[in-house]
Amino acid sequence: MNNTQQIEYWNGAVGERWANFQPQLDAAMAAITPRLLSFAAPASGERVLDVGCGCGTTTALLAQHVGPTGSVTGVDISEPMLKVARSRGIAANFLNADAAVHRFKPTHDLVFSRFGVMFFSEPAAAFANLRSAARAHGRLSFVCWGPVTENLWATVPVDAARAFLPPDAPVDPYAPGPFAFADETRLVHLLEEAGWRQVEVVPLASFMHLGATLEAALAQSLRIGPLSRAVGQLDEATRARLTQSVRAALQSYLTGEGVALPARCWLVSARNPGS
Ligand SMILES: C[S@@+](CC[C@H](N)C(=O)[O-])C[C@H]1O[C@@H](n2cnc3c(N)ncnc32)[C@H](O)[C@@H]1O
Repeated sequence: MNNTQQIEYWNGAVGERWANFQPQLDAAMAAITPRLLSFAAPASGERVLDVGCGCGTTTALLAQHVGPTGSVTGVDISEPMLKVARSRGIAANFLNADAAVHRFKPTHDLVFSRFGVMFFSEPAAAFANLRSAARAHGRLSFVCWGPVTENLWATVPVDAARAFLPPDAPVDPYAPGPFAFADETRLVHLLEEAGWRQVEVVPLASFMHLGATLEAALAQSLRIGPLSRAVGQLDEATRARLTQSVRAALQSYLTGEGVALPARCWLVSARNPGS
C-alpha cells in the first residue's frame, strides 16, 4: 500500500496551513466535534487511538474523557501538525506513522477519527490494519463527509470562483480525499471487507462555521482547500474579481454568529468481532 502522495501532501504547504490555522479549523468544526464525541462515547479508563489526529484537538478531548486511568495515542503522517500537537501539553502520546500500515498493539478499546480516515490509497486494507489496533470487541467511531453536493461549505466558494478558474479536470469520486466516503453503501462494504462488524452509518446534518465575520470567512475559504491552490496562480486583477464573487456568495450565509454553511457528515461506528 502506497500513501506516499498523501504523506507529501500533508507534510507540504497543506500541512503547514492546517498547523497555522488550527484554531480557525477547530472553530469551523465546533458544531460537529461534540456530536462525534457523544457518538463515540470515550469512557474513563479506555485506551483510544486517534487516527489522523492532526494538531491534537480531538486527542486532548479524548484524554479528558478517558482520564488518568486511560490512555490516548494520536497518530498522523504530518510532522508540521504533530509538532503543534506535541507543543500543546496534551496528556497523550503522538506518533508519526502511516495508520494504514503501522503495526499497532491490539489493545485499543476505541479507534477514533475526526475527518482523518478518508485519505488511504487502499481503504479496505487500511481499515483492516486499524482493526488490528482494536482489542476483541473494541469499537471504531469516526466522522467523515457525506456527498459533496450537500456540503455547501465546500461547494459555495468553489462555485462562486469557477468563472475565474481553468476548467476542472474530471475527478475519481473514490480517490483519497475529503469526499472519498460520500457513498455510504461503499463505505459499509469497505468496513465489512476489512472485518469490522455491526457497521452503522448515521447521517449528521450540521454546519461549518467559516468565520465570525464575512471577511474572516472569506479569508478562510481562500486560504484552505481547493481555492487556496488555484488562487495563488491567478494574476492580481482576476484574483480581485474572484475574491469579490466569493465574498458575495458567502454573504448569503452570514448569520448573527458569523458565516455558517450547511455540512452533511456520516457518523460511523463498527465493532471488532472477538477472535
Ligand atoms: C482533514 S485532516 C483532520 C485532522 C484532525 N483529525 C482534525 O480534525 O483537526 C486529515 C488528517 O489525516 C492525516 N492523515 C492522512 N492520511 C493518513 C495516514 N495514512 N495515516 C495517518 N494520518 C493520516 C493528515 O495528515 C491530517 O492530519
